[in-house]
Amino acid sequence: MNFYEKYILPPILNRACGLSLLKNHREDIVSRAKGAVLEIGIGSSLNRDFYKLDQITGITGIDPNESLLKIAQRSNPKKKSKITLIGGISEQLPFLDQQFDSAIVTFSLCTIPNPEKAIREIKRTLKSNGVLHFCEHGISDSPHLQKWQQLIEPIWKPLAGGCHLTRDIFDLIASNGFELFDHQTIHAEHVPKLVGHLYKGSARKLS
Ligand SMILES: C[S@@+](CC[C@H](N)C(=O)[O-])C[C@H]1O[C@@H](n2cnc3c(N)ncnc32)[C@H](O)[C@@H]1O
Repeated sequence: MNFYEKYILPPILNRACGLSLLKNHREDIVSRAKGAVLEIGIGSSLNRDFYKLDQITGITGIDPNESLLKIAQRSNPKKKSKITLIGGISEQLPFLDQQFDSAIVTFSLCTIPNPEKAIREIKRTLKSNGVLHFCEHGISDSPHLQKWQQLIEPIWKPLAGGCHLTRDIFDLIASNGFELFDHQTIHAEHVPKLVGHLYKGSARKLS
């Protein structure tokens, strides 16, 4: 982690990702989690308030950014007891096969360097009836906007901690061992168009 990623970016990400405009989307997805939950790229734990704690046995959150994990540790002591935070990358999860009932990923598949590998790792660690729930931004359905996303991505990526603007999230998930359901794309209101095309939904692990 360089100086920018360690000290400058974490509070910016915490603010930007914590925008109230995204709260209803987070709630819609995170409230679907059940049982033993794995949260990929948990960051500063902005999803913590949206878990339905009565349907969850525990939440294990993993993220490589220590500064974001520190913010997560400081926040919300009430829910703290159910959340275990671990430093690490999703491409190499330090968990046994078939350990979790649900996996949550929000606004991280854009940043994870090898999202295909990460999704295959999520699949490995989910039980056979396990479900991945996700809310991400990605490539727009407008050809005009797609051109802008492709143009701006090389400048945006280093400034936003490796975030890509042009990933097709449904394709990534469906091509790596999952079957999508209850899914939709939407344009998030009042969010800049380059990052406002959201991919939300759930996906069943295929055998
Ligand atoms: C935009 S932030 C989103 C954080 C959080 N999921 C949220 O919804 O607010 C992207 C996150 O992906 C994490 N990340 C980057 N590379 C990763 C990797 N290889 N494995 C897991 N998480 C990663 C970053 O550290 C950061 O916390």
